Amino acid sequence: MKIVVIHNNPNVRSGTEKMLQAFLDGIRDKRQVTVEWFDVHRMNIMSCELCNACKTGRIDDCIIRDDMIQVYKSAYEADLILFGFPIVCWHVPGRLKIFIDRLFAMNQDVFTKRQRDIAIFYTYHVEDAEMSGVSEIERFFSKGAIVMNLNIIHDFSAYIPKDGKIENYIDVGRLRELGNQY
Ligand SMILES: Cc1cc2nc3c(=O)[nH]c(=O)nc-3n(C[C@H](O)[C@H](O)[C@H](O)COP(=O)(O)O)c2cc1C
Repeated sequence: MKIVVIHNNPNVRSGTEKMLQAFLDGIRDKRQVTVEWFDVHRMNIMSCELCNACKTGRIDDCIIRDDMIQVYKSAYEADLILFGFPIVCWHVPGRLKIFIDRLFAMNQDVFTKRQRDIAIFYTYHVEDAEMSGVSEIERFFSKGAIVMNLNIIHDFSAYIPKDGKIENYIDVGRLRELGNQY
């Protein structure tokens, strides 16, 4: 089973990384997996040129030959794709938005004919759920999932106050258990 992790958080000690690792640990407790981890904040990824050159029936026909080419290959092989990020201005971080725009090149039969599982893990610091952006994230991924034939198995968010200790707000045991149940 192949798992692709798409993580966008330049913070060295990030809650999102902790969440992803705990979920992966839970899966690894039970089965053998191959994990490919992409740190979006370290990648060279240009914005989509909206040229539609990708709509050719192949998976890597994007005219922009940057780090996304490897992502297309990996996402195609993946059985499960995990996203981890903090909410930034009521949405995914800008780099991740660019990444997901580019991932849209895979919105064609060769990719969508097989359903893949995805799980999203994100952190935020605005306590008021209405003002945090959580509902915008849910809407964004649920629309993308319909179009790309993805099955969202977990939508896991953690509120971490500005000066809060990550350990006090992320239930690592619960995440490991969820991974174990996958
Ligand atoms: C520029 C910027 C914008 C942010 N926008 C939001 C926001 O719209 N809603 C929110 O709840 N938190 C927002 N945050 C807080 C981040 O989500 C927070 O830093 C993150 O949850 C920390 O998690 P981490 O431990 O995974 O890095 C913002 C942070 C920054 C730096």
